[in-house]
Amino acid sequence: MALLGSTVALPANAQAKKVTVGTSATSAARAAGAAGAAASVPSGNALYAERFRNVCAACHGADGRSDMAGTPVLAGQYSLYTITQLFLFREGRRTNEAMVALAKPMTDTDLRGFSDFIGTLAPMPAPPPAAPPDAARMSKGQALAQQNKCVFCHGTALEGGQGVPRIGGQKEEYVRATLRGFKSGERPGYTRAMTEALSQVPVDDLDALAYYVANFTGK
Ligand code: HEC
Ligand code: HEC
Repeated sequence: MALLGSTVALPANAQAKKVTVGTSATSAARAAGAAGAAASVPSGNALYAERFRNVCAACHGADGRSDMAGTPVLAGQYSLYTITQLFLFREGRRTNEAMVALAKPMTDTDLRGFSDFIGTLAPMPAPPPAAPPDAARMSKGQALAQQNKCVFCHGTALEGGQGVPRIGGQKEEYVRATLRGFKSGERPGYTRAMTEALSQVPVDDLDALAYYVANFTGK
């Protein structure tokens, strides 16, 4: 796979360091200078933490959960899942306008850097609802999630892992829209997992699933 293959390449600065280290007094001084400069410029996670704060936090929230409608929770999401989605935005295959515009200029190193940083954001439970979720709708959703094997891939706590996203506590209107998107083909997956998972699920059951997933608190 081109995406994952190219991201394992050494970052350019790692190679540069190799050639400048101590062959003469001048190159040693240059290397020391470069190291000094590098120390004042954030690198790796720190760099992407800063870019996330400056760019992404406006919509997603500094800790990865905001109350902006339609904007998914990133807190607790996995680096491997995240990189596949940034890749799909960059290629214009996931079509949200803002995300496509942001991802278009990203290099593979950027995809990796943002994904790794997002992977460090601790899961954040939804703020407590004004009223407890409707018990009948919850048990209908739970039955559908079991019948349709959602828990088989996403886990019994809907926590996901690696390339499978955490979905428990994700925002309801986002989950509803995204399930409809998978069902209609408007949101292509990185793999065919979701298209196949939903192929036998009637459109009418998607809202009950979204309600259950969003209100799921592990109990
Ligand atoms: C203008 C608001 C906005 C900004 C700024 C923004 N996002 Fe998003 N992001 C969204 C919306 C809205 C979606 C959902 C898109 C959809 O429905 O397909 C999204 C989706 C995502 C997803 C997919 C999550 C999932 O669960 O599938 C990732 C990953 C993501 N954004 C990362 C980022 C990163 C990294 C940045 C900063 C470089 C960023 N976003 C900046 C609004 C924004
Ligand atoms: C065979 C494994 C598998 C099954 C079964 C499955 N999923 Fe998924 N699901 C995935 C994968 C993998 C993704 C990542 C999407 C991609 O490939 O781009 C995903 C993505 C999602 C997303 C999008 C999350 C986000 O942040 O955008 C939701 C919501 C979701 N699944 C809900 C469900 C529900 C509800 C069911 C049961 C009807 C289900 N899944 C069944 C593997 C599975």
